[in-house]
Amino acid sequence: MGNNDIWIEFNNITKEFPGVKALDGVSFGIKKGEVLALCGENGAGKSTLINICSGLYKPDGGKVVVKGEEVHFRSARDAEDAKIATVHQEIPACLNMTIAENMFLGPKPPSKMPLLDRKYMNEHTRERLEVFGLTCSPGDKMGRLTLAEQSLINILKALDSEPEFLILDEPTSSLADAQKDILFAQIRKLREGSGVTVLYVSHRLEEVMEIADRVVVLKDGQFVNSKPISETSMDDIVRMMVGRDVEVANVYTERSVGDVAMKVTGLNRGRILRDVNFEVRRGEILGFSGFQGSGRTEILRAIVGLDKVNSINVEIEGKPVRIHRPEQAVQHGIAMISENRRDEGVIPNFDVEKNIIASSLKRVSNGLFINRSKTREQTQRYVDMMSIKLSSGKQLMMNLSGGNQQKVIIGRWLMSDPIVLLCDEPTRGIDVGAKSEIHSILMELANQGMAIVVVSSELPEIMTISDRILVMCEGRMTGELKRKEFSEEAIVALASDLSIGARAS
Ligand SMILES: Nc1ncnc2c1ncn2[C@@H]1O[C@H](COP(=O)(O)OP(=O)(O)OP(=O)(O)O)[C@@H](O)[C@H]1O
Ligand SMILES: [Mg+2]
Repeated sequence: MGNNDIWIEFNNITKEFPGVKALDGVSFGIKKGEVLALCGENGAGKSTLINICSGLYKPDGGKVVVKGEEVHFRSARDAEDAKIATVHQEIPACLNMTIAENMFLGPKPPSKMPLLDRKYMNEHTRERLEVFGLTCSPGDKMGRLTLAEQSLINILKALDSEPEFLILDEPTSSLADAQKDILFAQIRKLREGSGVTVLYVSHRLEEVMEIADRVVVLKDGQFVNSKPISETSMDDIVRMMVGRDVEVANVYTERSVGDVAMKVTGLNRGRILRDVNFEVRRGEILGFSGFQGSGRTEILRAIVGLDKVNSINVEIEGKPVRIHRPEQAVQHGIAMISENRRDEGVIPNFDVEKNIIASSLKRVSNGLFINRSKTREQTQRYVDMMSIKLSSGKQLMMNLSGGNQQKVIIGRWLMSDPIVLLCDEPTRGIDVGAKSEIHSILMELANQGMAIVVVSSELPEIMTISDRILVMCEGRMTGELKRKEFSEEAIVALASDLSIGARAS
């Protein structure tokens, strides 16, 4: 067979974990120089297949063939030797290292590098940072960077290894549009210039349509179909992923809003936040929009006491509260679903039940003891509500797929029944079906009188669910839009605040 143009081929791959067949006889190939998008719902088996390619898991059955020869990777090093570079969905947390150290960390230092030559490391890193227009410097600690910056650095590092096969597992979920465009330009350059083969995983189907040559869909660990992008559509991909037609229902409902639930005034934090004031009422969904780095996430972090600020006044239902630590926020009825759920939310070694009840022990215990059946019943409620895919409530959190971990964290905060729910990018990494479920859940909670604040980089999302949108630019609030004034143009105009440019010149 003329298979010379196939870079990698999966032949009847099977991988089983206790209670789940993560991959069940998956077969397909990827041509040299092709950008293949791998799509599927949360828990479909995408990351499992990627972990097999990158030497982290061994398949239970089947063959992986690279350039015509069967391979048996025993470690990440073996995969690297085969010229495979992977940017994993979960960002490894080497948060104490500098950017430069992280760039040069790994089993194989780049051939050109003289051992631990700091000057070379820094210069090389600085050049690479410029590629993505990043303004951080090589000596900055990884832990101080935003999620988007961390993820770009992981991408740069993968590109640095000059791979023949590049795997990107949801690389754009935390990126701004401009950064995504740069990434896509890099991918195209690699494909055209050096014939690099790319496996691309994303829940953002517009991106799949934009960058991929072909799409392969998995469902429940099984291969569903493979189609050239030119012969499919977003609706078609969703249908293949879910197994039926999905109507994107309009979840928005008119609501009457109640009293002010939370009022924030005089919020200042250096150049990052400048005199931010707003309030949110019971039953209201307030959206925050703006470009990455405009201060949206920082507002939420300041409220719950995650960052030190120069000044902030918070009132809950008319009463001033002092919050220096996140636990105090919970005590005052403020819950936060943070952007970086892996570092600030998930308790990886605990099972799913414990992760869900972590913030509402009162609801499942009578005095000293946790009531097992109540815990199981409550957990099941949220598992059903968001179709969380797991083998049992006793499954360890770290063994859930990325998207399902996020759903568990959302479940935890919903269960704690707060007065104010702060959500930062609530549907990041969540598949299309579950996304609208989460939107309806937020709507329902607002209906029951919860005050909800949502930060989202996706304009369609924020415009779908918010009653009111506040727009940020460079740490300032530049405008407020009522629902009937919503439009992408109006938001973008406020986010790039033309009046600031006018002041500067
Ligand atoms: N180490 C593990 N132990 C037990 N089960 C696992 C393990 N890794 C994955 N699984 C299970 O295998 C299934 C497939 O998970 P996988 O991470 O491949 O999904 P995914 O398609 O990447 O989903 P997502 O879009 O949420 O990232 C899930 O049911 C998951 O719970
Ligand atoms: Mg995954």
